[in-house]
Amino acid sequence: MAQGFSREPGTQGPLTDVPEPAARKITLWAGAIALGGFLFGFDTGVISGALLYIRDDFALSSFQQSSVVSVLLIGAVVGAMLIGALSDRIGRRRTLGLIAVVFLGGTALVTFADGFLVLLAGRIVLGLSVGAASATVPVYLSEISPPAVRGRLLTLNQLMITVGILVAYLVNLAFAAGEQWRAMFAVGAVPSALLLASTLWLLPESPQWLITHGRAEAARRGITALLGKAAAEEVVARAERRMAEDREAKKDGQVEQGARRLLAPDVRPALVIGLTLAAVQQFGGINTIIYYAPTIIEQTGLTASNSILYSVCIGVINLVMTVVAVRLVDRVGRRPMVLVSLALMAVSVFLLGLSFVIELGSGLTLLFMVVYIAAYAGGLGPVFWTLIGEVFPPAVRAEGSSVSTAVNWVSNFAVSLTFLPLASALGQGETFWIFAAICLAALAFVAKYLPETKGRDADQIDRALHRRFGSPEPRP
Ligand code: GLC
Repeated sequence: MAQGFSREPGTQGPLTDVPEPAARKITLWAGAIALGGFLFGFDTGVISGALLYIRDDFALSSFQQSSVVSVLLIGAVVGAMLIGALSDRIGRRRTLGLIAVVFLGGTALVTFADGFLVLLAGRIVLGLSVGAASATVPVYLSEISPPAVRGRLLTLNQLMITVGILVAYLVNLAFAAGEQWRAMFAVGAVPSALLLASTLWLLPESPQWLITHGRAEAARRGITALLGKAAAEEVVARAERRMAEDREAKKDGQVEQGARRLLAPDVRPALVIGLTLAAVQQFGGINTIIYYAPTIIEQTGLTASNSILYSVCIGVINLVMTVVAVRLVDRVGRRPMVLVSLALMAVSVFLLGLSFVIELGSGLTLLFMVVYIAAYAGGLGPVFWTLIGEVFPPAVRAEGSSVSTAVNWVSNFAVSLTFLPLASALGQGETFWIFAAICLAALAFVAKYLPETKGRDADQIDRALHRRFGSPEPRP
């Protein structure tokens, strides 16, 4: 971690050199905040194994089974959508604490469920907290990070999501022999409690939020203690300049209040980027592999008995490549990573489709699947969460992240729900070709519209966005 806190070429100023003790502290905070990401991964992943035993215990029909899986996604849409407004109101730290409490409640409900309905209720509550966490974590991470290391700290979210998925698969494996599905769910209480404790005793409030809520003094004190006086002055001055401009614009009647502010012309490029990438991250097809890998592998003629083991392999590759992405994001930059990622995803998912259409055999199918996961995890997967914390101007960051994340969950729901029916209507291979086409279209979009955000502050990002979209730059 420490080495990434050195000066980045081409950037200067008090925010680019982060002293070692401060770097350690920020990393610790980021790790604690990203527990929200871990829970996202854990709670979406753990059901795959637990379901096999719940199905038998509660005699669930196949419709009931898919409900147990998908209500979490619906809860997540709602949670992501609602949390932005709350987080603006009560601050990032308290919001995350509240989310941890909801995680604990949901975990208790599913762990002690005595029947289908309680289980369903528990999954919805978990969904609310998963969605809320997924929208809050990138914003919070972004706001505690100095620009030079922001990309890396933001990719921590995806890193912890992939760790959460992998741990869930391993927990499934560990409790499979005893068929202890309640124990599988109960494990989620540990990170939830840690997250709650961190928000109570470890984490500082986001300085950005403090400044925009009339508490610039507190922000100044916090940043001075961490990074020195010059850095504090710079952050506060920039934020206050921006707020003054916003006030001016409001007076002139140019700017809407609240959520409608998101639709204002000067925010539109960020919104288009946020919403499009949110949809692309899901419509590229990733969760068909994350959620259905065993089902897909079985169809190539392999036995079902190894399926949990194969999913563990997929989970490991997902994690390893995300680690690679975390190391690259502040060096290589977001734009090249997303471009290469989408290109490789398009090729590998096309070949994956081909391997079904002309029956290339299970070896090649597995190979293409692994390349596809690696391509996603090394770029689009983590970098989406980075960008979602960066592209929106501070005044609408929480709202923008909230709406984009909700779109991410709606898209996830749409893909997960339609994948198996589509595969049986069109054929497995042909369905993968649809994902290949979507990746190609996304590649063209990103090439044209996504600016580099690496090492830039909010104003510079804003200007770069407007240049890409050819719209007038609202601020000098
Ligand atoms: C991203 C996606 C999530 C997916 C995960 C896989 O975080 O948003 O839906 O399951 O990547 O690693």
